[in-house]
Amino acid sequence: MTHSRKKKGPAGAEGAPAGREVAAGDRVHFFDTTLRDGEQAAGVNLNAEEKLQIAIQLAKMRVDVIEAGFPAASPGDFNCVQLIAREVRTATVCGLARTREGDIRAAAQALAKAENPRIHVFLATSPIHMEHKLRMSESEVLDQVRAGVMLARSLSPEVEFSAEDASRSDPAFVIRVFKLAIEAGATILNIPDTVGYALPEEFYGFCKGIIEGVAAPKGVIFSVHAHNDLGLATANSLAAVRAGVRQVEGTINGMGERGGNSAIEEVVMALRTRSDFYGLSTNLDTTRLYPVSRLIAKISGVMVPPNKPVVGANAFAHEAGIHQHGVMAKRETYEIMRAEDVGSTPAVMVLGKHSGRHAFRDRLEYLGYNLDDTQVSRAFEIFKKLCDEKKEATDGDIEAIVSDQIFSVSPEFSYEFREYSMQVGGGNTTCTVTLDRNGEANTDAATGNGPVEAAYAAIKRIIRIHPRLENFKIFATSERSNALGEAQVILSLDGIRAQGSGASTDIIKASIRAYVNAVNRLYSTAAARKLSLPSYDANAPSPGGKGKA
Ligand code: KIV
Ligand code: ZN
Repeated sequence: MTHSRKKKGPAGAEGAPAGREVAAGDRVHFFDTTLRDGEQAAGVNLNAEEKLQIAIQLAKMRVDVIEAGFPAASPGDFNCVQLIAREVRTATVCGLARTREGDIRAAAQALAKAENPRIHVFLATSPIHMEHKLRMSESEVLDQVRAGVMLARSLSPEVEFSAEDASRSDPAFVIRVFKLAIEAGATILNIPDTVGYALPEEFYGFCKGIIEGVAAPKGVIFSVHAHNDLGLATANSLAAVRAGVRQVEGTINGMGERGGNSAIEEVVMALRTRSDFYGLSTNLDTTRLYPVSRLIAKISGVMVPPNKPVVGANAFAHEAGIHQHGVMAKRETYEIMRAEDVGSTPAVMVLGKHSGRHAFRDRLEYLGYNLDDTQVSRAFEIFKKLCDEKKEATDGDIEAIVSDQIFSVSPEFSYEFREYSMQVGGGNTTCTVTLDRNGEANTDAATGNGPVEAAYAAIKRIIRIHPRLENFKIFATSERSNALGEAQVILSLDGIRAQGSGASTDIIKASIRAYVNAVNRLYSTAAARKLSLPSYDANAPSPGGKGKA
């Protein structure tokens, strides 16, 4: 895919795809980086299928741009960007690249089949990053930006340039860098607050100064990318919008490294709820926010706190009698947004034994799962079995089934749980576990202080790797007494971290499924990074279990 610039001079206007508004008008564009920056959150590790599911839902919600990954980072990342570029036709699909030639070519190659591709090139401009990380002078940074953006622009019709750590950079230098990036062909200029250091009042002035200083030609759009280290990402994004920025970068649920990124649901609902103040529109379908938030929480294992604005379970709950009375008399007394506007349905829909495949599929779609026929049939079969055990299934149960048993199975690497049995006696618990791999049953047993410890020790004897259990949680999928138990674990081994979830009416089974799910992800991530996981001698005494029973 080669796109050469036809004319010299500022690339802005001629570089912008026809028919799409990119000028700093009254529309704010949303650039979702859940799959790139969001996935950098500790312990989050999504496979290609999960990323595609999320991308499809983001496109359905009408985000303008989906940053699908960093193609040069790993073959796995490259494949994900390629897959999303091929499948998502409505939103712009973007790939991240440093100014290095290899990164830019990898991004262009991964985006080759995209309907609307964008290469996102970045380089740091702050003194601390230039001196200690890049070891580059200002003029070297300028040279790299020129060369990187020009190459990207020769390979992609749309190029975004980010001045990493812009908020700690000399504004005069950022202006020089941005002017050069425009000359080289960038039409989107991003101002990141990479370490969440900015303060809203100050950041407003910073962004305004840069926008005025660059005096960009029509067709160039400024962007903001805020991190939440001081809890100010939404406020800083809104301050930037006030200053003239018209693209906001963020993630759903604010997912991301450290304190996370700017939460798209918060920014869009602030713009919408206070349109009297901002007077700006967006293209986002806000009624998809809640289902998309749940989908991402489920798939990533990063749960949404109940008091999270807009999408938290309590975002529209009123506990105090005075508030309840007020809302009943007139909703606006204590509610500034309507639950329906963010797609948060008040009633939980329950499907049961008599529900048909059609109703089940509809509910899956509402919940944000875009499954093919085989996956729906498989999920429906599990759902029917579940209804035999507990008569009905809530949204939480259905989500748990899908993320546990539909997405988790990646045939090349996967162990699949078959059965377990438990014997308790003499202060110890012994667990025997059978896992299938490539059609072969593998059984082993181990003892532990409790059933979960014993089960995990038995699994380690089967898989012959010894991951560290970093986190283990178990909870109910709904508030009903017959809810499924859902377990979530985070495992790490040799610098790879992976989350896993498992659901069942039996919490030991749920715990085993979650562990096996995370093990499968460790293997698939290691394979994507071309690493092999260190195995250990299962017959040697292991720290996780007390040997063969
Ligand atoms: O935080 C940051 O600066 C980034 C850039 C790559 C945009 O994520
Ligand atoms: Zn970032």
